Amino acid sequence: MQQIKQTIAASIVDAVQKINSEASLSADEVKSLLEYPPDPNMGDLAFPCFRLSKILRRSPVQIAEALAGQLSGGPIGSVEAVNGYLNIKLSDDYLTDTVLPEILAKKETYGSQTFGKGKKVVLDYSSPNVAKPFHIGHLGTTVIGHSLRKLHEFAGYDCFGINYLGDWGTQFGKLIVAYRLWGKKEEVEKTGVDALVALYVKINNEIKGDPEKGIPENKELADAARAEFHKLETGDEENLALWKWFVSISLAEYEKTYKQLGITFDSYLGESFYTDKMPAQVQKLRDMGLLKIDDGASIVDLSEYNMPPCLILKRDGSTLYPTRDIAAAVYRKENYHFDKAIYVTSAQQCLHFAQWFKVVELMGYPWYNELVHVPYGTVSLNGEKLATRTGNVVLLKDLFALAVEKVKGVVAEKNPNLENKDEIAEKVGVGAVVFYYLSNNRMKDINFVLDEALNFDGNTGPYVQYTYARTCSVLGKAGKVPDAAGKITTEEEAMLLKTLCRFGEKVVAAIEDYEPSVVTRFILDVASAFNRFYHNCPILSAEDEGTRALRLKLTEATKIVLGNAFDLICLAKTEKV
Ligand code: ARG
Repeated sequence: MQQIKQTIAASIVDAVQKINSEASLSADEVKSLLEYPPDPNMGDLAFPCFRLSKILRRSPVQIAEALAGQLSGGPIGSVEAVNGYLNIKLSDDYLTDTVLPEILAKKETYGSQTFGKGKKVVLDYSSPNVAKPFHIGHLGTTVIGHSLRKLHEFAGYDCFGINYLGDWGTQFGKLIVAYRLWGKKEEVEKTGVDALVALYVKINNEIKGDPEKGIPENKELADAARAEFHKLETGDEENLALWKWFVSISLAEYEKTYKQLGITFDSYLGESFYTDKMPAQVQKLRDMGLLKIDDGASIVDLSEYNMPPCLILKRDGSTLYPTRDIAAAVYRKENYHFDKAIYVTSAQQCLHFAQWFKVVELMGYPWYNELVHVPYGTVSLNGEKLATRTGNVVLLKDLFALAVEKVKGVVAEKNPNLENKDEIAEKVGVGAVVFYYLSNNRMKDINFVLDEALNFDGNTGPYVQYTYARTCSVLGKAGKVPDAAGKITTEEEAMLLKTLCRFGEKVVAAIEDYEPSVVTRFILDVASAFNRFYHNCPILSAEDEGTRALRLKLTEATKIVLGNAFDLICLAKTEKV
C-alpha cells in the first residue's frame, strides 16, 4: 500500500498542478493526507481536499470535483467526489497484475522495509533475575522485546539482543547462606531454578519472621547474607563458584522457555559484568559536580525535572540499579555503537528509566536521546489454579505447560490421528499465550483467561494458526499452480488483496509506536479476509482453470504474508492443526 499511496499521491500532485500550475505541493504531503474511509463501500482510500482550499482558492467541494475527472490509471480504479473528499477505489486489474505478483515474488521479504539500513539497534529485553521466579510478568518484556527486534530487523536495522540477566546483588548472599544451610546439590541439579527459588523464598521468610505468630525477624541470617555477598564481591573463590553454578542452572532453564518461543539473544552479559565499569561513571558524576550527599548516600538531584533523586551509591558505598544501567549504557554505546537502544520493562520501572536517562543527559553524553524505554502493563492470571511453589506468582513455564496440556486435550478429542501431535500442541499452546498477550496494546493491564486464549473460534492464536494451516493444506492438495491465471472477479478476492497489501505500512506503524499489537491485529484482518474468501469462492473446484489458478495464488500470497507476520511476533507456523 505504501507504493500505491505514493503513486496515487503523485497523480494527485499532477492533477492539482493542472488546475493551478503555481500550486506547490509535495507528493509526501499528499501521501500523509490519504486516509482509509470508515466504510470500505465508500472507497479504498480517501483524499480530503480541505487543505487545498487555500492554495487553489476554491471550495473543497469544487476542488474534489475538478480533481476527480483528472485521476485515472495505475492503481486508481474509479474516483468519486463526495463532500470535498476524493473517494478512490483501487483497480482490480492493478491488484491482480501488480500487487499479487509482487507478494509472490518477494516471498519472505514481502512487507520488509529499508529505512533501518546502516543503523544499529540494541535491545535489552527479558532480563530475568537469577534465582528469583521467571514469572508471567516477564512475558511482556520477553515477547514484546523479541517482536521489536524482529520488526527492526525487518526494517533493515542491524539488531543486537541483550539479555541483561539480573545476576548480581544481595540476593546471592542470601542464596549462598540458604544453600549452605538447607540446600542439596542433587535437588538443585534435578529441579533447577525451582530449588533455588524455594531456597530464596525460605530464607526471606526466615529473615522476615512472622510477627503475627510471634516469630521474630532473624537479623543474624540477614547479616550472614550480607557478609556472603561481600565475600562474593571481593572475589571469594568458593562463593564465586557457587554463584556461577546458580547462574548456569538458571540460564539453562530460561533457555528452555526461549527455545519454546524461538527466541535467541546475542549477549547474556548481565548486571555482574558491569561491576568494574561503574567506578569510572561514578567518578565522572563526581567530577562534574553532579553528585550530592544525602543522608550518607550519593544521589543526583533531579528536582528541577520534577523527579525524585536518582540514587547512585548507598550509604555503605555499594552501587544501585541505576548506577549499573548508566555504566551498561556507556559500555554498549562504546562497544556496539548503537543508533538506538531499546529497553523493554514493565511500566513500574518508568521512573527508573526516566531518571537515569536524565542523568546520562546531564553527564553530557550526546546520545542520551537515543535511549528508548518501552513499558508495558501488568499481567495476571484469571481462573486457573497453578501450583505456586514460589509464593504468589505464576511461573511463565507453568503457564505455557498448562496451555500445551489443554491443547493436547482438544487434539485428543477432535483430531486423535494427527501426526506429530505433541509438537503441534506445543506450538499451538505457546502460540495461544503469545498471541493473546500481544493482541492488546502493550500499556493495557491484562488479565489472562487461558480458555479464551485457546478458543479456536475466537480471535486467537489457534484460529490464525489454523488459518495458516488451511492455506498450506489447500496448496498441498492443488499440486502445481499454472502460471496463467485469471483476473479478480469477486469482492472477496479483491478485499483479500487489499488487506494483504497493507502489511508494509503496518510494519512501519508497529515500529513507530513500539507496538507489536499492530501486527497481531493485522494478522486477524488477514485471517478474516482469507476465511471469507475461502468460504465464498471455491478454490480447488473453481469454475475454470484461470479462476482456480488465481485463487491458488491468492492462497499462496496469504500464506506468505501470514508467515512473515507470524515471524514478527514469535508465533510458530503450523502446516497442520
Ligand atoms: N532484571 C530486571 C527485572 O527483572 C529487568 C532489567 C531491565 N533492563 C535494564 N537495563 N534495567 O526487573
